[in-house]
Amino acid sequence: MCGIVGYIGKNDTTKFLLDGLKELEYRGYDSAGIAVLGDKKIDVFKALGKLHNLEEKVNTSSSKDYELGIGHTRWATHGQPTELNAHPHLGEYSYVVHNGIIENYKELKEELINLGHKFVSQTDTEVIVHLFENYNNKLNDTTKAFHSTIERLEGAFSILLITKAEPTKIFFFKHGSPLIVAKGNDENEVLFASSDAPLIGLANDVVYLEDGVGGIATTEGIEFFNNNYSWSTLPTSKQFAQKNGFRFFMEKEIYEQSDVVVDCMLGRLSDNEILFDEIDKSLIDGINEIKICACGTSYHSGLTASYLFERLSKIKCNVEIASEFRYKDPLLTKDTLFVVISQSGETADTLEALKMAKVAGLKTLVICNVDNSSMTRTADATILTRAGIEKGVASTKAFTTQTIVLWMLALYFGKAKNVLTNDKLSEELHALREVPKSLIIDDNMHEKTKRLSKRYLHGHGFFFIGRDVFFPLALEGALKLKEISYLHAEGYPAGEMKHGPIALADPELFTIALMPQNLLYDKIKSNVEELSARDSTICSISPLDFDLSDDFIKINETDHYMLEFFEMLIALQLLSMEISVRLGNDVDMPRNLAKSVTVE
Ligand code: M6R
Repeated sequence: MCGIVGYIGKNDTTKFLLDGLKELEYRGYDSAGIAVLGDKKIDVFKALGKLHNLEEKVNTSSSKDYELGIGHTRWATHGQPTELNAHPHLGEYSYVVHNGIIENYKELKEELINLGHKFVSQTDTEVIVHLFENYNNKLNDTTKAFHSTIERLEGAFSILLITKAEPTKIFFFKHGSPLIVAKGNDENEVLFASSDAPLIGLANDVVYLEDGVGGIATTEGIEFFNNNYSWSTLPTSKQFAQKNGFRFFMEKEIYEQSDVVVDCMLGRLSDNEILFDEIDKSLIDGINEIKICACGTSYHSGLTASYLFERLSKIKCNVEIASEFRYKDPLLTKDTLFVVISQSGETADTLEALKMAKVAGLKTLVICNVDNSSMTRTADATILTRAGIEKGVASTKAFTTQTIVLWMLALYFGKAKNVLTNDKLSEELHALREVPKSLIIDDNMHEKTKRLSKRYLHGHGFFFIGRDVFFPLALEGALKLKEISYLHAEGYPAGEMKHGPIALADPELFTIALMPQNLLYDKIKSNVEELSARDSTICSISPLDFDLSDDFIKINETDHYMLEFFEMLIALQLLSMEISVRLGNDVDMPRNLAKSVTVE
């Protein structure tokens, strides 16, 4: 969720770092910073907000030549977006930049404070540099100190570290978060970046580091700590690199979902409970009802959550579309926890709903992807979804991470209220841990949606149907399809079709039926049979074969309905995207829409 870069060589170090960070700015732009080393001295520049603030600072205060440097653009996870929390982080004589999350930072910090280390930031990252100096002070050996540091870290991290104790070296390591090391086009030049884009045009030979691989770079070359690496050739197109080889940002973001849910759950799932550092258990004290307000896709994750809150936390929950809520003179009582959900944190209707709840004196919580957004600044408490920047207008990974956060929150409240048995909780935790696997995209499934897409380009409309949490999922499937294909689609509760919409059934009405094995299978099956009997064209998505389907997308058999939910979500996202591609539409920037709707 952050971007990192590093440079050793004879060219302009600050230029590489700043240009590189510019390429990575889409990963996060709460703050940015560089640490540059020349004549055995390290200069540091940090600035809040967009990168041009840092550029201005560097350009007005330094014209020095530096031999090496590291840089970072931040998407806050631990600690507010402030200059103190911006990377690079300093010990006494070393600096580190880090992408990822150190899960055991609290224990390490306590240990280091007891040893006399002084911390200035609220970040997890700062422990790395103190740990390194602690070992180096004892061992007087920077390489051993770096190894000892890495051994103590838990979580996900890619790291670049520089130190006055060894002023010709950059120490690097990758575990969980991405890191690339490259031989620069100029002799004796080594470059680092957390993704391809900053390196394009400046290097040809790169190593995409595997987990557990690190080393030391100098102008003499790169020494890897083990042999688990291989050189490959860098792509030459920047656009291609930003999209990681995918055709569209939406496609890239669909494929990223398995990884971002890992980020989203990092440090929040323990063996037998859910942890949210950012909120207090007392948030639920005196609360008898949860009211959720959101728009679009975020509304759909809210609706999904309403089933989970009632089922798992035994708290009454209702969900409203923010634009409706605002003008209905809602009755708000202080025993209600008011939750808003938003990818951007800027959606005008949701923000106004949040302000109304605050004025009414309710406790407020925002589930959001953008820290320091208007909503995170307004709500009493924030839980970040950590999806990374979502560029496609059609929201994909934001929905997934919102739903994961809300599912975890339902368990967190369930446990706080003592309404979940230990067995039930461990069953749910087990399922949560399986989600990243269920979001890995199977080539066959993608191929299938590509082939099916050609049969769904006409007709007089689509009904996406499901029951329980698969109803909001049906709504989300329909929204995805309509916003990028411009075809008419509706999401409907499957059991409600017979109360009117079934009148539309004929071969030109396409029904996308969500048929999970683990939740109300027989009920949805009979709803689909009713539609099939009226000759509607049926595409079912299920782990179980269904004879009456015209088309069938098979998902894996699992033991939890939420795992089926996420696998079906992937199928729906891919199907919409492939239909849109066949229709020749702009997948990433569909007509009439904007990524962030800051007007009423
Ligand atoms: O940033 P938000 O989550 O508040 O945005 C809400 C909607 O505008 C958004 O989800 C919209 O519906 C997406 N285009 C759906 O893909």
